[in-house]
Amino acid sequence: MESMKQVKNNNVDLISNNDPLDKNRALIEDLWESVLREECPNEQADRLIKLKELSYSNQVNQANSNNFKNKIVEIEENLRDAIFGWFETPSLEYDLITFGLHGGAQWMGASLDPYNQFLYIPVNSVPWKLRPYAQSREIKTFFNNELKESYKLYLNKCSACHGKNRNGKNIKYKEKQIEYVPNLVGYYTIPGIENKLDNLKLLNTKHKNLMVKQEEIEMLKKLFETWDKKINENNEIKIEGNGMAWSQFLTKDGLPASNPPWGYIAKLNLETGKIEWKAAHGDLKIDGKDQKIGTISFGGTALNGSDILFFTGTEDSKAYALDAKSGKELWSYKMSSAGSTAPTIFNHNGKQFVTFLATGGNYHNYTKKSSTIYTFGIDD
Ligand code: HEC
Repeated sequence: MESMKQVKNNNVDLISNNDPLDKNRALIEDLWESVLREECPNEQADRLIKLKELSYSNQVNQANSNNFKNKIVEIEENLRDAIFGWFETPSLEYDLITFGLHGGAQWMGASLDPYNQFLYIPVNSVPWKLRPYAQSREIKTFFNNELKESYKLYLNKCSACHGKNRNGKNIKYKEKQIEYVPNLVGYYTIPGIENKLDNLKLLNTKHKNLMVKQEEIEMLKKLFETWDKKINENNEIKIEGNGMAWSQFLTKDGLPASNPPWGYIAKLNLETGKIEWKAAHGDLKIDGKDQKIGTISFGGTALNGSDILFFTGTEDSKAYALDAKSGKELWSYKMSSAGSTAPTIFNHNGKQFVTFLATGGNYHNYTKKSSTIYTFGIDD
C-alpha cells in the first residue's frame, strides 16, 4: 500500500474504490471523465457521465460489505507491490489490479426490451491481477571460476523456488492462481525493474526464513548482472503477456478481493440513461451458510413478452426467473452444474418454453461439470 502511494501518488484503495459513495472514487472518476472528454464527442461524453451518476443513485444493498472488513489487512498485504486503476498500463514492476477482465458489462448475453427501451445487463464486478513477466530461454547455464561460487549460492539458496533459470513459478487453474514465485530475470537489462536486489531489508521481509546477508547479495548482484547481459545478447529473454500474466485477485479463502455483490443484473433505461434497478442473484456458502451474495456469472439473460427475465450462470448452478419490473426472484431451479450460455425462449404448439444449458463452463468456481439441457414450460 505504501509503495503504491509513494511511487504512483495514486491514493486509491481497492475496497473503497468499489464503493461509489467513498470520496476516493472521485480520483478515478476524474480520470475517467477526462479521458472520455478527450476521446468522445461532447454530447456522447455528457450522456455517459450522466448515465454513470444516475447509476450510483441506485446501488444494490451493500449490507454484506461489513462481513469482509477483516479481509482488508490481507488484501493490503497483497497490494504491497501493486498499482490500481482502469487506465494504468500493465508493468513488469508491479501487479496491476483492475476491474473489467471477464466482466463489467461485456461478457455475457444482455437482453433488450425493444418496446420499452430497457436493456438487462449481467455485470461482473471482481478485481483482476495483471503482470507481464520476463522469462529466460537459456538452455545451458555455465559460469567461469569467478562467478562459480555465486552461481552455487544461487542454486543452494534461491533456485528451489525461483528456478534454475530464475524463471520463477506460476501455477494456475483457469483464472485462479495457485502458486506464484516471481521470476528474477532481466534486472540488469530491462528498464524499470533494476533495483529489486538492492533492498536487503525488503528481501528479508519477503523471505522470512532465508536470512540473506549483505555479502551474499553482493555476490548475487554480480552474478545476475553478468547472467542477464549474457542471455540478453543471445536474445534469450522473452517478455510474456499471455494467459499466465493475469489471474483473479482473490483472498486466501478464494473470494474476490472486492466488496460484494460480485455479480448482478442491471436494468438500464435506454431513453433516460437511468439504471432502474440492480439485482444480485447467486448464493454462495460463506462461513458455512448459504448467502445470497451475488456471485460472478458467465451465463446470460433472456426476456419474454410478459416481463419475465430468465437468467443463469451463477456459481450456485441455478436457473432463475426474475420479475423484470423489479429484479425480484420469481422462481429458481438448481441444475446439475452452472448454466453456461444465455437461456433460449421458444414457442411450440402455442405454448412458451425456456431452455437452459448447464455444462459448468470454464470458470474455476464452477466446480461441477455436466452436459444437461433443461426445458421448462411457461404457464400463462
Ligand atoms: C522458499 C521459496 C523462496 C526462496 C528459497 C527464495 N525466494 Fe525469493 N521470493 C519467493 C516468493 C514467494 C516471492 C514473492 C514474495 C512477495 O512478493 O511477497 C519472492 C520474491 C523475491 C524477490 C522480489 C521479486 C519481485 O518481482 O518483486 C526477489 C528479488 C527475490 N525473491 C530474490 C530471492 C533471492 C535472491 C533468493 C535467494 C537468496 C530467494 N529469493 C530465495 C520465494 C522464495
